[in-house]
Amino acid sequence: MTRPTNNIGAAAAGRSTVVLGIETSCDETAASVVVRQGETGRILSNVVRAQWEKHRRYGGVVPEIAARAHLECLDEIIAQAMRDAGASFDELDAVAATGGPGLIGGLLVGVATAKAIAFARGLPFIAVNHLEAHALTVGLTDGLPPPYLLLLVSGGHTQLLIVHDVGHYERLGTTIDDALGEAFDKTAKLLDLGLPGGPAVERAAASGTPGRFTLPRPMLGRPEPHFSFAGLKTAVRHQAKAAAPLSPRDVADLCAEFQTAVADSVADRVRRAMVIASERLPNAPKHLVVAGGVAANKQLQSTLAAVASGAGYALHAPPLELCGDNAAMVAWAGAERLARGWTDPLDFTARARWPLDPEATPALGAGKQGAKA
Ligand code: KG4
Ligand code: ZN
Repeated sequence: MTRPTNNIGAAAAGRSTVVLGIETSCDETAASVVVRQGETGRILSNVVRAQWEKHRRYGGVVPEIAARAHLECLDEIIAQAMRDAGASFDELDAVAATGGPGLIGGLLVGVATAKAIAFARGLPFIAVNHLEAHALTVGLTDGLPPPYLLLLVSGGHTQLLIVHDVGHYERLGTTIDDALGEAFDKTAKLLDLGLPGGPAVERAAASGTPGRFTLPRPMLGRPEPHFSFAGLKTAVRHQAKAAAPLSPRDVADLCAEFQTAVADSVADRVRRAMVIASERLPNAPKHLVVAGGVAANKQLQSTLAAVASGAGYALHAPPLELCGDNAAMVAWAGAERLARGWTDPLDFTARARWPLDPEATPALGAGKQGAKA
């Protein structure tokens, strides 16, 4: 299929472009309209509908239920995003949808919908990598261009990357087992804190004291900036079992110790990545960006702020509503790609797995990788 070139031309010429973004890779159905003018972006609308109520009784996201839920409400969410933006389909320059990685049923819903709109309106279609969308959010919120060091912490991924440029990512470290968000979710589950797990652990930790229970600090001092959280989660289980039945105070103290262990481990890994990044890019400005759902965690943010200031880095974290999954980041990544003339054919196939750095060597001990982002 040949792509219309007028919209790509507008982006290339630096004129403003308007992109509709669609996100359906996990359990949030989202649509957003973003305008890109020169190098900067503005969010015209940002509609996100979470599905927690539908998954709560199963204790986690059920892929089939998620896909059906996206299908039921996506049209309405898109209509809402267009209304909020005060935009008509005629004013769009492109339609972008998360094409992966993620739960394949949900991805298919978003991608098929985006393709249908693109085909009906004669617009370019852009398949966005969900991880790239998280990675580039800081361009939309802070106007920060690459290169920068990125800590990407979500429900399915935990990685340290150098963002060299849009479309060029170098993975320095990854988790060899559980993702950080997954560790928060599993900890919440075994302490009966409910879903979503990360915010529940953070809330419980707020009234707790670290140090009363003792948990390990995984991977400290390892030369490669990889992560591991499976052992930490198992240690929480052992401690919880040994202290059962748990009082609310016990739960709070365990959560506080868990969060502190996480923060200590992440801080050590980030410091290591900073050393590697400054060897790779000795003259680059020092920016540390944190993105993904777990970036919302306040203790993690304050720890990263201390690490950054100690190393002469500026820390950038998205505002709370753009830490978790949303479609504004998808629309923005789409606009960035459109500006470079990178669009996708209508026979693009959604991808459950889609690494940002396909060249990266597997981390030693890596046994599994989350299917979502
Ligand atoms: O990026 P995201 O919204 O979805 C994925 O792409 O995975 O990240 C979701 C993850 C979940 O594991 C959730 O528990 C975690 O982010 N999360 C948090 C917090 N808010 C969300 N983890 C720790 N503290 C939080 N405040
Ligand atoms: Zn995500």
